[in-house]
Amino acid sequence: TGCPLPVCKQPDERPKLYRPKAGALDLENEEDVGQGGFPTIQAFDYGEEIQFWHSGKPVMAYAQKTWRLSSGEPMHAESGYWRPKIDGSLEVIIAQSTGLAEVQKGTYNAENKSIALLSEIIANASKVKGINRSFTVVGDDLEYTVSMATNTHSLHPHLRAVLKRV
Ligand code: HEM
Repeated sequence: TGCPLPVCKQPDERPKLYRPKAGALDLENEEDVGQGGFPTIQAFDYGEEIQFWHSGKPVMAYAQKTWRLSSGEPMHAESGYWRPKIDGSLEVIIAQSTGLAEVQKGTYNAENKSIALLSEIIANASKVKGINRSFTVVGDDLEYTVSMATNTHSLHPHLRAVLKRV
């Protein structure tokens, strides 16, 4: 199909589903979590689920949702499409529940199972000026970080999490 990623060779497989990995972030909380922060806000923890799937085209569909750990109340959610090319480049189109839309561009390394992305376009955002996303798969774990730049601050970390494939 022209898709260089292993997932594209398994059209009948169920969606890949990731949830927080126990103990990965060394937090006191027993439940496994992602961690958020930024210079202008209070640090916070969150639960998360991510799914990847595809329809047979060399494009992966992506959906993420997060929740407040204390109450289970929904927090941020987003979904989109991951479009890898054979030359190692990758673009990701993401729609966020906040209304923000992103076009991310970058590269993947199939050997290291790593991805680095920078925002090319951010639309419909009042504060956000830039978003960097990095992902690494280690065994069954998916680790990621998100940094952002806002109208008041240059690029700083906003999110990090380690999720386990379930
Ligand atoms: C705050 C953007 C993902 C939870 C913020 C702020 C921005 C922002 C601009 C306000 C910062 C300020 O006032 O200086 C984004 C972007 C995201 C993202 C661009 C994705 C790329 C998430 C996710 C969660 C989350 C996944 C939850 C799991 C929060 C919380 C705050 C916050 C709790 C502080 C309270 C608030 O202002 O609502 N985020 N965010 N964010 N974000 Fe995110």
